[in-house]
Amino acid sequence: MREITKITCIGAGYVGGPTMSVIAHKNPNIKITVVDLNSARIAAWNDENLANLPVYEPGLDEIVRDARHRNLFFDTDVERAIDEADMIFISVNTPTKTYGKGKGQAADLKYIELCARQIAAVAKDDKIVVEKSTLPVRTAAALKNILDNTGNGVNFHVLSNPEFLAEGTAVSDLLNPDRVLIGGDDEVAIEALVKIYRSWVPEERILTTNIWSSELSKLVANAFLAQRVSSINAISELCEVTGANVDEVSRAIGYDSRIGSKFLKASVGFGGSCFQKDILNLVYIARTYNLHTVADYWEQVILMNDHQKSRFAEKIIQTMYNTVNGKRIAFLGWAFKKDTNDTRESAAIYVADYLMDEEAQVVVYDPKVSDNQIYSDLVSLGTRSLEEIKRLVTIVNDPYDAVGDAHAVAILTEWDEFKTYNWNKIKGEMKKPAFVFDGRKLLNNIEMNKLGFEYYAIGE
Ligand code: NAD
Ligand code: UGA
Repeated sequence: MREITKITCIGAGYVGGPTMSVIAHKNPNIKITVVDLNSARIAAWNDENLANLPVYEPGLDEIVRDARHRNLFFDTDVERAIDEADMIFISVNTPTKTYGKGKGQAADLKYIELCARQIAAVAKDDKIVVEKSTLPVRTAAALKNILDNTGNGVNFHVLSNPEFLAEGTAVSDLLNPDRVLIGGDDEVAIEALVKIYRSWVPEERILTTNIWSSELSKLVANAFLAQRVSSINAISELCEVTGANVDEVSRAIGYDSRIGSKFLKASVGFGGSCFQKDILNLVYIARTYNLHTVADYWEQVILMNDHQKSRFAEKIIQTMYNTVNGKRIAFLGWAFKKDTNDTRESAAIYVADYLMDEEAQVVVYDPKVSDNQIYSDLVSLGTRSLEEIKRLVTIVNDPYDAVGDAHAVAILTEWDEFKTYNWNKIKGEMKKPAFVFDGRKLLNNIEMNKLGFEYYAIGE
């Protein structure tokens, strides 16, 4: 196998962009081209003003500044990039199917298959094809089949190399990963990929497994993480009725080194593009093998999460004398977590929808999410026209514009800046009683009560 000097990544999204930027930053001798069909996204990756990169991640601008135009390139010419690469990462989206068999559960692999067919059609020499996208276990076999049967007689080696970065901390996760996982059955191809990561990842953190274990481990890692959030959220409801405090319970159990302290923060519900999608996929796979008890077990993680989101919305309505009709409710935060502009599956979308059903007037402020994104998230629910949404939802660029005259404030994302606001001033500008519903347990109960708020937080 020849030395890897050129890498192409298909998909310049939240994973492809940051991952390839870090690989390029750490491997200045390898030329990396990230391609995407979305020309606006590629233009944004090439924008000289680094504030306009399509993905907001702390520290990403510095990494891109270092490598871009040196050995990191963003382009729309997919065929040329495939042709010249020794190694091709596939990092396209794998959403939940919205049609046909497996609708609402299975992963939609149409983008993956298109990539495979395009690679097969273009490749004129041997390639290592790396699954970076999250895929159902055994996808590599389908990928290899398409590559071998539609290709030009060249050799393809398929590896699985799932990504474990979390949004908001993508750069530090990539620079200092807990582990890098590589699954495959060809020692030479595996070594070629290990060598790239070895530039900065300690050898003992680079795990190699068979390809099916690698594919399945990615789904299982997300399922376990989401399960912890649903578990603590289930306990948050119990805390609210018993007088226990969920943060204290988390701390008490988290000190047990067998349980560990991470991922025990109760919230309005997990969001993000992957937890729900990957668990649904796991459930679907279990069902296709007739493992219904296994499928039911994991499905419960999603049901609990849905319950947590609607429970939060119901709490707002019930507390405000069972009606929010015409009442102004200020949403602080729309992103699915802090330090990202990503809103996919954000709890805020579902809470807003619930309150809009009750004719509330929702006013949204988020430091990083654009107006268009918020409206498009609500339109994509398919429950209302844009005109109807605009009648009920206003978006503002200054948090104090959101809270002025509000009947209630609802905290949906844990942005640090919300803690630094002048809450005394906010209280003065709100309608009374001034309700605060804290879906992230971000503020201090005692201080908020002292300021005169009617303060309700998840799990206390
Ligand atoms: P994304 O939607 O942000 O990016 C995917 C990109 O692929 C899009 O820009 C799309 O235009 C492009 N694309 C699709 N088909 C293409 C084709 N045939 N040719 C060229 N470009 C094409 O998705 P993402 O968040 O980057 O996720 C990608 C994969 O990584 C998913 O499987 C996801 O589950 C997984 N993943 C995501 C995260 C995360 O934090 N977002 C973390 C780990 C793993
Ligand atoms: C998650 C995983 O953490 C990554 O390892 C994985 O690579 C990624 O999914 C993926 O496959 O896409 P991400 O969704 O970006 O990363 O962010 P997380 O930090 O995991 O948060 C997910 C959701 O859970 C957020 O809405 C967050 O607010 C919520 N959460 C997280 C809690 O409510 N409580 C917690 O204690 C932790």
